[in-house]
Amino acid sequence: MMLLRFSLFAVLSVGCSTAALAEDTSPFPAGENAALVKKTCTECHGASVVVSAQFDEKLARKQYKLFVGDPDSEEGQKVVKYLTTYLGPR
Ligand code: HEC
Repeated sequence: MMLLRFSLFAVLSVGCSTAALAEDTSPFPAGENAALVKKTCTECHGASVVVSAQFDEKLARKQYKLFVGDPDSEEGQKVVKYLTTYLGPR
C-alpha cells in the first residue's frame, strides 16, 4: 500500500513539473512537440484551421508535404506524430 501511494505521488509530481515548464501551446492540445506544431502550422493560417481538423496518418503526411516539406524529415516525423496522436480521428 505504501509503495502504491509513493508511485502515485511520483507520477503526479513529474506531471506537474512538466506542465510548468511547457510553453503555452493553446489552442493546441498539450503534448510532445505541441510547440513545434504550433510554430510550424500557424505561419500561414490560424490555429483553428488545424485544431478543428482530424488527422489520420495519411492526411497528416499529405498536409505536411503540401504546406511544409518532407514528412520523413526529423521535424516532419515529429509533426505527423503529434497530429495523429493529439488531433487524430475523434
Ligand atoms: C505555407 C503556408 C502554410 C503552412 C506552413 C501551413 N498551411 Fe495549412 N493551409 C494553407 C493554406 C493556403 C490553406 C487553405 C487551402 C485552401 O484554401 O484549401 C491551408 C489549409 C489547411 C487546412 C484546411 C483543410 C484544407 O486542406 O484546406 C488544414 C487542416 C491545414 N491547412 C493544416 C495545416 C497543418 C497541419 C500545417 C502544419 C504541418 C499547416 N497547415 C501549415 C497554408 C499553409
